[in-house]
Amino acid sequence: MKALILSGGHGTRLRPLTYSQQKQLIPVANKPVLFYAIEDVIEAGIKEIGIILGPNKDQVIETVNSVEWDADIEFIYQGDPLGLAHAILVAEEFLGDDSFVMYLGDNILRDGIVQHADKFRSLNPDSLILLTEVDEPQRFGVAELDEWGKVKRLVEKPKVPPSNYALAGIYFFKPVIIEACKNIKPSWRNELEITDAIQWLIDNGYRVEASIVEGWWKDTGKPEDILEANRLVLEEIHPRMDGRVENSKIMGRVVVEAGTVVRDSVIKGPCIIGKNCRIVNSYIGPYTSVGDNCVIEGTEIDDSVILDGSEIVQAGRIVESLIGRNVRIRESNSKPKGYRFVVGDNSNIVL
Ligand code: DAU
Repeated sequence: MKALILSGGHGTRLRPLTYSQQKQLIPVANKPVLFYAIEDVIEAGIKEIGIILGPNKDQVIETVNSVEWDADIEFIYQGDPLGLAHAILVAEEFLGDDSFVMYLGDNILRDGIVQHADKFRSLNPDSLILLTEVDEPQRFGVAELDEWGKVKRLVEKPKVPPSNYALAGIYFFKPVIIEACKNIKPSWRNELEITDAIQWLIDNGYRVEASIVEGWWKDTGKPEDILEANRLVLEEIHPRMDGRVENSKIMGRVVVEAGTVVRDSVIKGPCIIGKNCRIVNSYIGPYTSVGDNCVIEGTEIDDSVILDGSEIVQAGRIVESLIGRNVRIRESNSKPKGYRFVVGDNSNIVL
């Protein structure tokens, strides 16, 4: 079995961060979201991985190649994001006659895909889709199931959802899906929808099975989704202290990477602080990820994601914020508490 991981698209709902960076590279607990997908497919025993690229292709190639993976990785350029089924057609040569799992590179799944891959191998259907119950099915592809739990119909982002079962962005296919993708028409949003291709399989008598996701699943399409995914991943983090702590209090499960100095501060986990940071006279609270090379001085930060190279000095109290790379935030004369930020890379904020 092969894997096709999608790392294209424009990531419009994550602007301004995605003006300068591909959305699948945004870190959750200091690791690019895309890496969770790569790790999951490798854990399922897959050795041949195709990664679909879009606008920021060089960034994705460089980031993926910065790690030695226990698999062969091929990069496939899609160009404009013309739909998930279009991505399959672009990858036709790579996929050949093999079964494969398609994994959307902005999805994170707590328990990985091993048990679903096993189910696909043992039931041997034409497609196995992963379903999960959600509160807002309108945001996703939604499955209608019959009384025996068999998939009857799939609809993409329905106004009136037939159920609460959303399609998680992980799909197992036999090669017949390529024929399905060739037989569908673009949707109202001008995309070749994977839901339409799977519906084509159902309508043409092919067997489509469902597997229910038990642990949490997150599509990191929006800033609040990144923060939520960050909380969920940090919830299970193992503490590690590779940095230097001076006159500070460390509580709970905290990771501090090498080269980082924590001085006169309080750190309360679960949280992670990357390499070569300086945390001085500050409070870093639960569910916070601080990237590499950051400086945090005289500031309280809770429940936030701070990307590499940012400097936050005397900035009061920051909560539930997503802060891009190389952002500078510093004090001005007025200091209202409890700011909320969604700030892009290289921004410069004077408070
Ligand atoms: O996350 C699950 C949902 O993903 C499913 O419930 C939906 O049925 C499915 O259509 C998809 O919906 P989204 O609207 O979230 O898809 P999005 O456009 O965000 O694309 C998903 C990922 O695939 C994202 O990482 C970008 C990438 N992509 C997307 C398109 C359309 C590509 O690489 N190429 C593309 O052409």
